[in-house]
Amino acid sequence: MTPQPPAAPGPGPEADALDFPLPPPGTMGPPEECVRLRASCPVARVRLPMDATAWYVTRYADVRELIADSRLIRPTINDWPARPGPAVDGGPRLVTMAELEGPRHLALRRAVASAFSSRAVRDRLPRIRQLAEQLLEEFQEAGRPGDLVAGFTDPFPLLVLCELVGIPFEDRNWFLPVLDAALGTMVTSEEARRVTDLLREYVAGLIARKRSRPGDDVLSLLIRQCEDGVITDADVMAFGLSMLTVGFGISSFFLADSVHTLLAQPDQWVRLRDHRDLMTGAVEELLRYLPVMNGTLLLLATETIDLCGRTVRRGDAVIPVLASANRDGSVFADAARLDLGRADNPHLAFGRGTHNCVGAHLARAELTVGLEALFDRFARLRLADGQEPGWDDQSVTKSPLTLPVTW
Ligand code: HEM
Repeated sequence: MTPQPPAAPGPGPEADALDFPLPPPGTMGPPEECVRLRASCPVARVRLPMDATAWYVTRYADVRELIADSRLIRPTINDWPARPGPAVDGGPRLVTMAELEGPRHLALRRAVASAFSSRAVRDRLPRIRQLAEQLLEEFQEAGRPGDLVAGFTDPFPLLVLCELVGIPFEDRNWFLPVLDAALGTMVTSEEARRVTDLLREYVAGLIARKRSRPGDDVLSLLIRQCEDGVITDADVMAFGLSMLTVGFGISSFFLADSVHTLLAQPDQWVRLRDHRDLMTGAVEELLRYLPVMNGTLLLLATETIDLCGRTVRRGDAVIPVLASANRDGSVFADAARLDLGRADNPHLAFGRGTHNCVGAHLARAELTVGLEALFDRFARLRLADGQEPGWDDQSVTKSPLTLPVTW
């Protein structure tokens, strides 16, 4: 569905809008501002870096409802926000699974379900562990100190996904910079269209190769279902684009943030290393506690919605802040504390409703295996003295860009 333009002027004086809340430089967040907003202004107007405004929603109950509300849709990066430079009309957009709705979305979800089920992921665990071991062996051989982001937390989820989906890992030097350009918000419409076209051409080439030489991977599975008429070529394209845009990056950020957080509180590192029975709950707690999805999920209202006394009009952008919901004290006791033994943990890290995360089981497995492989090989891993992790402080998605460690 294509987002509708606003039916009426924006919701009030934009001069009153807050700057988009970011945590202080060099820190993970979530932004301190979220505490105040949850208490006194749970649906706030904020200015985004790309010269647009949105409703910033911070309380658990509201976020939980909004992310599963069919009156809100996910815009493609070509459609929102309005970009600098002349508008570029026509041509296909960067449509991923998130932007599909209704029966077409349901058919594609069903088509991929078996490949990402809890059982399918469990069956792959030995291979996922093997991939982790290979990377960590190379990392260890390169000597200490080393940057764990470049050596492990970045390549590991990408390697796992490439093999599962059927994307050649060696193509990463080509597609990673193109993805960076496509997901950047400050590019012009023309540039956004150019990189979108490049990504579509790349996925189209992959699909063509799988069609002539099918493999034991998800793309080949989908192509077979396409031939049976269950889904269409355009759906396979949407799936391929989803895998490039959301299939590995978020897992990398979570893994880097998890390791950083545990190493910054060494008693927690030791506790989990020595009590692996805590692992399942600890992974859920890390998903709740880490603010990776600070405010990256953006929805557009397709009709007027009343929310906590504010009027969200058709065409308005709404940001349900998952990281803020996950720190809401009305749901989570001692919400600002990392509690690896937390029992009741209905976090929203994977979203909810028809668009909830396809890769949730895979992401959990990557976090679990990644941490276990690190504990087993580097029991005494620690942050390298005098070398601070690097952060991209302009990015909403906060995770270390570099993580210097030693052992
Ligand atoms: C810790 C890692 C991850 C987190 C926190 C995460 C989080 C999320 C969230 C919150 C959504 C819902 C967004 C919305 O409501 O529109 C989502 C959707 C999605 N995720 Fe993940 N994700 C992770 C890893 C993965 C992985 C490894 C894959 C690979 C298969 C994946 C594939 C997807 C897809 C395809 C969607 C769109 C689903 C749809 O619209 O039907 N994610 N993810």
